[in-house]
Amino acid sequence: MLHEPIPNLKKLVEPDRVHRLAYTDPEIFELEIKNIFEKIWVYCGHESQVKKPGDYQTFNIGRQPMLMIRGKDKKVRVLYNRCPHRGVELCGNLKGNAGEALTCSYHSWRFHLDGKIESIPLAKGYEGTRMNPDNPDCSMRPAARVDSYRGFVFASLSPEGPSLPEFLGEAKIAFDDMCDRAPDGEVEVVPYCHRVIQQSNWKFFMENQLDALHPSVTHQSTGVAAAWVERDIKQKTGAAPLYYHYLSAFTMSFDKWDSVQTLNYPRGHGILKGYMGLRPDDPDTNAYVAAMYKAYGEEKAEKFLARDIHHVLVYPYLSVQSPLQQIRVLRPIAPNKTLSEIWHFRLKGAPEAIYRRSLWYYNLVNSPATMINADDLENWTKGQWGLESSGMDWVSFHRDYGRDETRPDGAVFSKNGTSEAVMRSQFKAWTEYLTGDK
Ligand code: FES
Ligand SMILES: [Fe+2]
Repeated sequence: MLHEPIPNLKKLVEPDRVHRLAYTDPEIFELEIKNIFEKIWVYCGHESQVKKPGDYQTFNIGRQPMLMIRGKDKKVRVLYNRCPHRGVELCGNLKGNAGEALTCSYHSWRFHLDGKIESIPLAKGYEGTRMNPDNPDCSMRPAARVDSYRGFVFASLSPEGPSLPEFLGEAKIAFDDMCDRAPDGEVEVVPYCHRVIQQSNWKFFMENQLDALHPSVTHQSTGVAAAWVERDIKQKTGAAPLYYHYLSAFTMSFDKWDSVQTLNYPRGHGILKGYMGLRPDDPDTNAYVAAMYKAYGEEKAEKFLARDIHHVLVYPYLSVQSPLQQIRVLRPIAPNKTLSEIWHFRLKGAPEAIYRRSLWYYNLVNSPATMINADDLENWTKGQWGLESSGMDWVSFHRDYGRDETRPDGAVFSKNGTSEAVMRSQFKAWTEYLTGDK
């Protein structure tokens, strides 16, 4: 355990390596909750998760139980899920509809959908006390700041700090790319998600997302098996369904992975460029492209469809695979325990077949039932165990160290996709957050 976490923190992060305590120490984890997750803009959900007045979704920001709820005025609000009376959580379910008002299950205090107190049973018991309806402490507390970008709702528990667009920076492209691929310019959530508890620190997930060195090793067995079947089907019928390619793409050679570029931005955000060739020439794709041309005109539609992105990371908790409409959200629980929510979306105005492709990817790659996700989870758990041992203290991020280029916009760019520039960039942001240098 570190006894002086803040003064010692910088000693744990060197430009090319990081001390294992960054992944295992409970005091550092507490600092992460306080200085990062309970301060920055955290993704709450999509507006389409709460379509009608009274619809709500519950989730945590850091350690705080929160709810996102639509009011009678159609506005989406984010409130602490805590009764002002004696603290009981007002919404006990992950999602639902509160009806006309939120009612506490303990003593029946009722709150309007905007969180303001509506009624207290036998209110005369409070006469002359300071707990009266004019006291804001009598109403549910809202998050300090709430904002949304193209339908994606974020909240910050800190009244100060960068605006949402400033925080997202270059990572805004994740939401633009997802929505621009919809002929109607919007996406709609599929209102069910996989929830997975990883037995590992949240940073394993974030590092892994842009780690182009691991797929052809970690996912070899799945990728090779899919490639064999894909080849067989192609030989017999001339073409294999796209979803075989989702898996066979993992078997690319090290050289090919090295040619996939990563861009690493301030605040730890990052982009992995496209590599999967997701635009086959088939009737479904052609119908979709026709719908895009109709909506945007050929030039603009082609610009949207040609965006060279596979993955965008909003550091430190969001992984967006915009061309396939997938979002994974991390909600850290403990140094060695992380909840991930895995959501996917429909492109509004796109043919059903295009949605099925998103669903295939969701089920084949991101679902906890697929071998891809299971392969990763196993590595992260074993990684956690390894870093909890005292065998060695340092985690190495030396790959291509010293060969990164910094662009005028501040992005660290690596010509080599397998460079560990990704992790170096994430830890730079991490140190700035924890030491208050940002
Ligand atoms: S704790 Fe909610 S009404 Fe008493
Ligand atoms: Fe992986």
